[in-house]
Amino acid sequence: MTESEPEQQNGLVTCRAGLERVIADELKELAIEVTRIGTRAVFFRTDRAGVYRANMGLRSALSVLLPIRRFNARNYDMLYFQSRKTFWHKMFSVDRTVRIDVNGGSSQLRNTQYVVHRVKDGIVDTFRKLCEGKRPSIDKRDPDVHVVVHLDGPRVTLCLDTSGVPLFKRGYRVEHGEAPLKEDLAAGILALSGWDGRMPLCDPMCGAGTFLFEGWMRATRRAPNLERRFAFESLFSYDPATHAAEQEALRSGIIDPPTGFELFGCERAPAAVRVMERIHREHFPEAPLRVEEMDFRALQTPPVGCFAVTNPPYGRRLGGGRSPDGDADSRGDLNRLYRDLGCHLRRIRQDGGSAAVLSAWEDAARTIGLEPTRRFTLYNGAIRCDLLCFS
Ligand SMILES: C[S@@+](CC[C@H](N)C(=O)[O-])C[C@H]1O[C@@H](n2cnc3c(N)ncnc32)[C@H](O)[C@@H]1O
Repeated sequence: MTESEPEQQNGLVTCRAGLERVIADELKELAIEVTRIGTRAVFFRTDRAGVYRANMGLRSALSVLLPIRRFNARNYDMLYFQSRKTFWHKMFSVDRTVRIDVNGGSSQLRNTQYVVHRVKDGIVDTFRKLCEGKRPSIDKRDPDVHVVVHLDGPRVTLCLDTSGVPLFKRGYRVEHGEAPLKEDLAAGILALSGWDGRMPLCDPMCGAGTFLFEGWMRATRRAPNLERRFAFESLFSYDPATHAAEQEALRSGIIDPPTGFELFGCERAPAAVRVMERIHREHFPEAPLRVEEMDFRALQTPPVGCFAVTNPPYGRRLGGGRSPDGDADSRGDLNRLYRDLGCHLRRIRQDGGSAAVLSAWEDAARTIGLEPTRRFTLYNGAIRCDLLCFS
């Protein structure tokens, strides 16, 4: 590790708990060497092109970080001193705006606001000394450069976040339904679910269609972040020609969907259907999508031979009002909904299909009435959920 970004890059991809192995597979598919699988992080070794490729091509990741300095800090002065010794001025221009975030934990550096403050002082003072008194500004909302301070007890790692805006922000979903899944989680669920990317995909409670759009990109091997901006573009090391070449290579890997491939969504909230239709029209017009605005229980025939993936409401309320995740408001409603979902999935399985359901409701599997063939623990924000796979 050095401070001036070598051609050989040792970095890490951050992700949600439970998706680490998915990330390792995604890195391998992108021809990036995995060196270690950690907790909510997967470590890799690659070159600059690989960092660009990871940012554009990873589906289930949150960010791609490059460590630039590791040290021990038992107090805030040591933290400042080490930040001050870092060659920030060799990484980005004084005209760039910066944001600093902290993750991990340290019993010596408990006050994360103060950690941010001291690292910021180190950055600012480095520039002031070396750039005729000028300093970069802090911008929390839309920064050019994103610094992450990782705390692991007394061990501190300063990282450049090469992604900037988290990687689940693909750009296609500006508005959404009532309780949308984040794109990285939807992609991770598809990877864990056993869906082969060839079977038609359906979601009987599709909201704004996150599973279906992520499924479309997976089925056609379309890199999810091909067109967006990244923080690596604001670094001195940025090489637009390499970026363009990687973009082009990923574009040329896009394939046609298999014959007969279809996306089918059912959703009873009209507002969510409108959002989904708009995303389809504006971002994925070539996707063979069919949407029914209705209760899935009223469907005469579920699509034949499909893979059903869904996250039904699970009855968690915000402040006691309506459920934030749909509108199954009482335990009786939930029971009925999951029982009827079980019937729906049984019919799909009888027709040769498979299914996966994400839910935080502890009675989900029992009420659906099917024995899961596999089960994974995942987190939707802070909410612990089960991914139940019925293959
Ligand atoms: C947790 S949200 C799903 C979010 C979706 N995965 C997305 O990313 O936008 C649950 C959705 O199920 C819908 N829903 C609830 N009961 C339904 C039913 N019986 N038939 C169809 N849709 C239903 C709700 O309107 C809500 O949009």
